[in-house]
Amino acid sequence: MEPAACLRPCSPASFLLSFLDLLALVSAQFTVVGPAEPILAMVGENATLHCHLLPEKSAEDMEVRWFRSQFSPAVFVYKGRRARTEEQMEEYRGRTTFLSRDLSKGSAALVIRNVTAQENGVYRCYFQEGRSYDEAILRLLVAGEPLALLHCLS
Ligand SMILES: *[C@@H]1O[C@H](CO)[C@@H](O)[C@H](O)[C@H]1NC(C)=O
Ligand SMILES: *[C@@H]1O[C@H](CO)[C@@H](O)[C@H](O)[C@H]1NC(C)=O
Repeated sequence: MEPAACLRPCSPASFLLSFLDLLALVSAQFTVVGPAEPILAMVGENATLHCHLLPEKSAEDMEVRWFRSQFSPAVFVYKGRRARTEEQMEEYRGRTTFLSRDLSKGSAALVIRNVTAQENGVYRCYFQEGRSYDEAILRLLVAGEPLALLHCLS
């Protein structure tokens, strides 16, 4: 603890207060966790991009967004308790399903139907609540044929 961070006089009470402030700050934050392994899909299949919060907390009132290289328009945006199709990239419109059943437990998933080879790559799953936000990096491996999939894995 820096002496300069304490109010004068630097009593044990003021030390305790700043320690509690610090705890409040830490507990207001969260981490977004995605799958550790790449998500595998064949061209034309459905891919599910799942993420959850740690510690477990409701995301019903948060912004939840999946995006690739640009933040907006995105692959999918949930904000203000609804899907924001106006912020969705043209190529994903009508092909996504937001699985929000476990949103109250901080868990969400996005299904992308009929994936294409161009959709292979890195996705970010982003949660925001007020000024707190975090994101997880997901890798989607889209293979054209079973041999290509084996090649990707080796
Ligand atoms: C993808 O999802 C849709 C809608 O849930 C379903 O009808 C379709 O059979 C699925 N496709 C594959 C390849 O699993
Ligand atoms: C899947 O995407 C391909 C290429 O974009 C398209 O030709 C095909 O009709 C789509 N299939 C379905 C079931 O939407």
